[in-house]
Amino acid sequence: MRFRVVQWTTGKTGSAAVRGMVGHPALELVGCYAYSPGKVGEDVGVLAGIAPIGVRATDDIDALLALRPDCVSYMPFRPDFDHVVRILESGVNLVTTMYMLAGTGYGDDVHARIVDAAQRGRSSLYASGIYPGHANMVALAVSAMCTRIDCISVLESLDMSGYANEAMFRAMGVDREVDDPEVPAFIEGACGSFKDQIGVMARALEVELDAVRFDVEFGAANRTTDFGFMTIQEGRIAGFKGTVSGVSGGRAVIQCRFVWKVGHDMTPNWPVEDGYVVEIEGEPGVRCRLEPIGPHFDGAVTTAMPVVNAIPSVCAAPPGIVNRMDLPFVKGAHLLTGLGRA
Ligand SMILES: NC(=O)c1ccc[n+]([C@@H]2O[C@H](COP(=O)([O-])OP(=O)(O)OC[C@H]3O[C@@H](n4cnc5c(N)ncnc54)[C@H](OP(=O)(O)O)[C@@H]3O)[C@@H](O)[C@H]2O)c1
Repeated sequence: MRFRVVQWTTGKTGSAAVRGMVGHPALELVGCYAYSPGKVGEDVGVLAGIAPIGVRATDDIDALLALRPDCVSYMPFRPDFDHVVRILESGVNLVTTMYMLAGTGYGDDVHARIVDAAQRGRSSLYASGIYPGHANMVALAVSAMCTRIDCISVLESLDMSGYANEAMFRAMGVDREVDDPEVPAFIEGACGSFKDQIGVMARALEVELDAVRFDVEFGAANRTTDFGFMTIQEGRIAGFKGTVSGVSGGRAVIQCRFVWKVGHDMTPNWPVEDGYVVEIEGEPGVRCRLEPIGPHFDGAVTTAMPVVNAIPSVCAAPPGIVNRMDLPFVKGAHLLTGLGRA
């Protein structure tokens, strides 16, 4: 059986999702929503950087829902909660890289609307990505080797200058003064999805958390640098090192850590792992690295595919918000086909 999928926008992650759906043995891309007026009417394959596939992007939501898709793959830059509710209440499942759509990071009212729409539509919503998302599920898989877990952590450590997303970086506080009092709240807001992820891991490990804490340090640019998509002035924020900690019994037991740098010319100049590092303190202590073979991970691909590959399981899941622990093992599907490559 092939599941009918509508892709919602073709930005960096959405384009990778389209490429991953073309040739996917369990999925059929039947439609695509365009946020940008200039993309309406364009072939979705071409928008995603591959050959035409005969499906054209549209901003007509009624027409997309009339296609009776099994699932929408929802990957815009910002959520439109009215769209999310409309999709779910019409009975269409929704998978997304916006991790906070599955939690309470957008507020209790939004969460309640989403839960209600999914119940009325008998549909499911699932959020993943690489981090938060798949890297944390790797950590949980690694934890199966341990007799005792004192602390389990995941680190994402990247130079993000290849991501070219000025709006996202400015929303996080990049190029602001390091002592700007508003910035810690910006970056903590950008980390709201990690708070939701800590909750999912705590439920999986059956640990009661007393609190979730957030800490961050800033790296200041050593000189003014033009990255092509934005300029960071000397002395201003060019990187972050932070931790979101789930605390139990007064100590951190689950941590989502990050070192995010735009370039390398900053103080402090934390080393970059160029990937993901899982660490478990316990018996035995374990370290596990997810690192690219080649120069770097294509973050758009590693973000999109854990969501795309989960679509069949999400379509089979009970109604409501489902998290990774509610689904069967999600794996890749392109071993024999590989047709989605650009
Ligand atoms: N969990 C994870 O691991 C992870 C990692 C990375 C990103 N993400 C999330 O994935 C989502 C997509 O990220 P991305 O980097 O692919 O985004 P992006 O390329 O910057 O934007 C995606 C698309 O959003 C539409 N768009 C642009 N401005 C918008 C606005 N103001 N409001 C609504 N839509 C707008 C555009 O649609 P058109 O295609 O029509 O032009 C654009 O192509 C984001 O929510 C991001 O936070 C998650």
